[in-house]
Amino acid sequence: MTAPRTLKIPYGGDYNPEQWTEEVWDEDHRLFTRAGIDTLTVGVFSWSLTQPGPDTYDFTVLDRILARAAAEGRGVCLATGTAAVPPWLARRHPEVNRTDFEGRRHRYGQRHNFCPSSRAYRDHATRMAGHLADRYADHPALLAWHINNEYGGACYCGLCADAFRAWLRDRHGTLDALNDAWWTTFWSHRYTDWDEIEPPSALTEHWRGPDHTAFQGITLDYHRFTTDALLNCFRAEQEAIRRHDPAAPVTTNLMGPYRPLDYHRWAPHLDFASWDNYPPLDAPPTRPALGHDLMRGLKDGAPFWLMEQTPSTTACRDVNPLRRPGELRLATFQAIAHGADATLYFQLRASRGACEKYHGAVIGHAGRADTRVFRETAALGEELTRLGAATLGAHTPARTALIFDWDSWWALEFSDGPSRLVRYLDVVHAYYRAAREAGADVDVTPHTADLGRYDVVLAPALHMIKGDLAARLEAVVARGGTVLATFLSGRVDEHDRAFRADVPGPLAPLMGIRVDEWDARPEEFEQTVPELAAKARLVFEIVHLTGAEPIATYGTDFYAGTPAVTRNRYGDGGEAWYVATALDQPGVDTVVRRVLTRHGLLGPYADHRTLETATRVTPEGTRLLFLLNHAPAPASLTAACTSVDLLTGKRTEEGEPLTLDPYGVAVLRLQ
Ligand code: GLA
Ligand code: ZN
Repeated sequence: MTAPRTLKIPYGGDYNPEQWTEEVWDEDHRLFTRAGIDTLTVGVFSWSLTQPGPDTYDFTVLDRILARAAAEGRGVCLATGTAAVPPWLARRHPEVNRTDFEGRRHRYGQRHNFCPSSRAYRDHATRMAGHLADRYADHPALLAWHINNEYGGACYCGLCADAFRAWLRDRHGTLDALNDAWWTTFWSHRYTDWDEIEPPSALTEHWRGPDHTAFQGITLDYHRFTTDALLNCFRAEQEAIRRHDPAAPVTTNLMGPYRPLDYHRWAPHLDFASWDNYPPLDAPPTRPALGHDLMRGLKDGAPFWLMEQTPSTTACRDVNPLRRPGELRLATFQAIAHGADATLYFQLRASRGACEKYHGAVIGHAGRADTRVFRETAALGEELTRLGAATLGAHTPARTALIFDWDSWWALEFSDGPSRLVRYLDVVHAYYRAAREAGADVDVTPHTADLGRYDVVLAPALHMIKGDLAARLEAVVARGGTVLATFLSGRVDEHDRAFRADVPGPLAPLMGIRVDEWDARPEEFEQTVPELAAKARLVFEIVHLTGAEPIATYGTDFYAGTPAVTRNRYGDGGEAWYVATALDQPGVDTVVRRVLTRHGLLGPYADHRTLETATRVTPEGTRLLFLLNHAPAPASLTAACTSVDLLTGKRTEEGEPLTLDPYGVAVLRLQ
């Protein structure tokens, strides 16, 4: 199943009219029409309304909300509302409340606070999902199901401990296998009974927080278990929905590169991917782009939904800057450029009370249409209406893959040594950014992806090598492709045990190198890499060549002159590159551009650093080139091919000047 079929890009967002009176609904819908809003995400936090007591269900308000949406011709993404438990449930079944990493059993409060192993939670949540599906499966407004909200976090209660032990039996089979996987002979940990195993928390294996664990194996397995435990909550609700509604697609709003949950384990169970884009403040535009491409990669490149973004400002940060004029439009078209087939907001009208009352909304507390945010969102609504179906269902024809691996993320960041300063996402983002700014479309894929489609495979900080990945990477190079791996790749197996082999383990033959030692230095230390005119930091692996040639070397210290970047020619004209240190961004850019150039993958505007390009190909085979000007100044280009801009209707011949406004966007249909 795919995302809902629509005639244009669904546009709208989270809408909680149960918080205000029905006169306000009239104003809401009048303004929605003016803003081109056709899609409402409803019921995300409605559980205490729809089930005010253990045996009482009350759908009168939700009935009216949906009836009104249908009458106005708007579609609804209907949430099951199970992310915030009602007070009576927590009181009646205190075990639905989580126990935190420090071992504190929480009492009722906040949201996203349920224990995934609690039967009471699971039963009540699935029953709610079933009732909703029974009631609304055939509702004319229903577009899709939105289960729960931003699943996340972890629980360390006794129920979770039991569920973890059952999960471990299933995964490892025997205690011998588990002891071997976790290397428990170290520090006298050999388990002789499943019940001896405790969830890894501040009270057990951890010190100084969640990243410092005595046994990486148990902490890794707890992350996998938590991923599966929350996924099982999702699946239970999905099954309850499916019993009544075999047709409408089901999703849940994910969070892009969110460390606690391995979304690749979720991917097969989602009918379509959707996510909430709140990039870190001051992040370069490639950071949200990485999120989009990671989410598109969940369903093998199928379009996803942008389920939430703020139309203006967040509220949860200490300081919440506004989106500048034009930035919202740019961010919205960036999502579409990367494969979004819907763009939705949190939120359509601001709540009057509680912690998100100052969060940006299309409609503020005063209900005005003459605000900047309303004008901008309405103008965008009009553009999306004009765009119609032109981008729907289009795929990204990427020739470059970047392997993203939650296990590697976890293993790297739970590791004592060589350096706590290396952050997985920083390394991944540096390589992704280099490729994207050079104009290459990139698929961010799981390690299991079919690599046969790609000319270039980037494997930054691929700490853990699982299955037959090394052989599949060798196959890419054997047929003339390029694989690039970096420092701290190929170190451990699926249980986080070092390979009994030269570093980088199974990648060593392909890379034609051997690493025996590695140096780590404080944040402020910079090593020179003269051939690239670059600097390197954090970790410096000392490389011995076993077939590769040096491309760049370290400039100082006792390993001065030894390779920092290598290339191994392999197979039928293929190349395997290894970058043994954390190069600065210009250094990463130089290396990645050399690799892309070899395959003709530099984009036509690769010299315009602040101009982002992205390609989508429609199901009819039409090529669309998105141009996104991330600079506050105009971008003056020379058209690389003849095109018509779908937003303005303007035709530009190849070689003619093409200008984009500050933060401007063009969606070019290539001729
Ligand atoms: C998340 C949640 C929403 C809301 C927004 C605010 O994405 O899903 O309910 O809290 O953040 O930014
Ligand atoms: Zn629990």
